[in-house]
Amino acid sequence: MAEALRVGIAGLGTVGASVARVLSEKAAELTRQCGRPIVVTAVSARSKRKNRGVDLSKAKWFDDPVKLAADADIDVFVELIGGEEGPARASVKAALEAGRHVVTANKALLSKHGVALAEIAEKKGVLLNYEAAVAGGIPIIKTMREALAGNSVNRVFGILNGTCNYILTRMEAEGLSFDECLKDAQRLGYAEADPTFDIEGHDTAHKLSILTALAFGTRISAGDVYMEGISNISQADIRAAGELGYRIKLLGVAQRTESGIEQRVHPTMVPTASVIAQVHGVTNAVAIETDILGELLLSGPGAGGNATASAVVGDIADIAKSRPGFQHGPVFGWPAKQLKPYKKAQMRSHAGGYFIRLTVHDRIGVFAAIAKRMADNDISLESIVQHSAEADAQKTVILVTHETTEAAVRKATDGITKDGHLTTKPQVIRIERAG
Ligand SMILES: NC(=O)c1ccc[n+]([C@@H]2O[C@H](COP(=O)([O-])OP(=O)(O)OC[C@H]3O[C@@H](n4cnc5c(N)ncnc54)[C@H](OP(=O)(O)O)[C@@H]3O)[C@@H](O)[C@H]2O)c1
Repeated sequence: MAEALRVGIAGLGTVGASVARVLSEKAAELTRQCGRPIVVTAVSARSKRKNRGVDLSKAKWFDDPVKLAADADIDVFVELIGGEEGPARASVKAALEAGRHVVTANKALLSKHGVALAEIAEKKGVLLNYEAAVAGGIPIIKTMREALAGNSVNRVFGILNGTCNYILTRMEAEGLSFDECLKDAQRLGYAEADPTFDIEGHDTAHKLSILTALAFGTRISAGDVYMEGISNISQADIRAAGELGYRIKLLGVAQRTESGIEQRVHPTMVPTASVIAQVHGVTNAVAIETDILGELLLSGPGAGGNATASAVVGDIADIAKSRPGFQHGPVFGWPAKQLKPYKKAQMRSHAGGYFIRLTVHDRIGVFAAIAKRMADNDISLESIVQHSAEADAQKTVILVTHETTEAAVRKATDGITKDGHLTTKPQVIRIERAG
């Protein structure tokens, strides 16, 4: 039998400890599948004394993950510390420079430094695998990098953050407020103590920026992603969406348009009958539209120790199976040096349907004024619904537009606001085509 693959794991938290456990519990299966054993020979974390729920007594301990990364006695460095800078970045860079294969689940790191790290990996002829970095256990990276060779992607979109999908699902199913659902998500360990990163869309933006590079062969730029979170979604929006045949999801969408590559993360109305609208709770889903295949949707667990470990172990097994001296495919599907800068489509040129919820003073002329602002901006309406007074002297008007542009909608809602008929800020939610 071939020699064992020696694995060094830095970070023994939720994911790291699960990876060590799976490698130990599934050792026999993995050996059969890979033709050689996979053995954890070195580990690093902050606390040496913490019980990790798996026997790591035979693995060499390193206080410093950078030293572990460059250790001559490992073949693969597995980074499960997290964070875009600090020890995660330093150790991954050190491992690649020392000619070690690397596996990571770190979307923040790849979103910021992925191209530079891929250049080192490709120069050194080693693998940089990161299946767990996007949509946890869903094999989306392999699908896009390998299975869709030859396809041109038009659009990739998905539910990439389980915390947000959990909150939106419960708000709809149980009529609870955003704050109540967020508290439950925190209690159940789905959301961090500081949930900003998830609920304001940053986490989705990091993952989307990686998918964009894979889809379009472009450089990664999370800063180019337009971002709106879900914290201002109310029961009024959820109810109105349901009445109109829609469900609200936080989507990340990357799309090729006439004005460039559009990357956006925002609450989105998707038709209730669409497949992506059936993705509930912490589950993730990614849809890809290509010229040859058409539309493909993958869904599954997007986070958690086991699901994420499944993807990390799959990446390690690929390395165990790889043949020495074999030229590996490029990290992001195209050679890192050839990833192109791209024209960023401005959000104001986004074209699509819009849901607009207005809370207005209950007085004569308001309806006509709203209709005039819409017409002045060439916005044609698919439906207009007026709800009777929610509170004294107040009405809700819900508009659904046909395809228009973001610029037109912003001008129209600015105009309506200036007219002085609104009692609160207009709520605007984009509608996404989904099969
Ligand atoms: N959790 C998920 O469901 C999930 C899903 C997909 C991707 N990911 C990604 O996976 C990575 C790990 O996430 P996680 O949830 O497992 O994080 P975590 O539970 O916070 O674990 C982080 C680990 O890193 C160790 N660590 C921190 N600083 C260190 C340092 N300077 N040197 C050595 N070790 C250090 C910690 O040591 P101590 O234990 O001793 O404190 C801990 O074991 C992140 O990039 C995350 O984005 C996580």
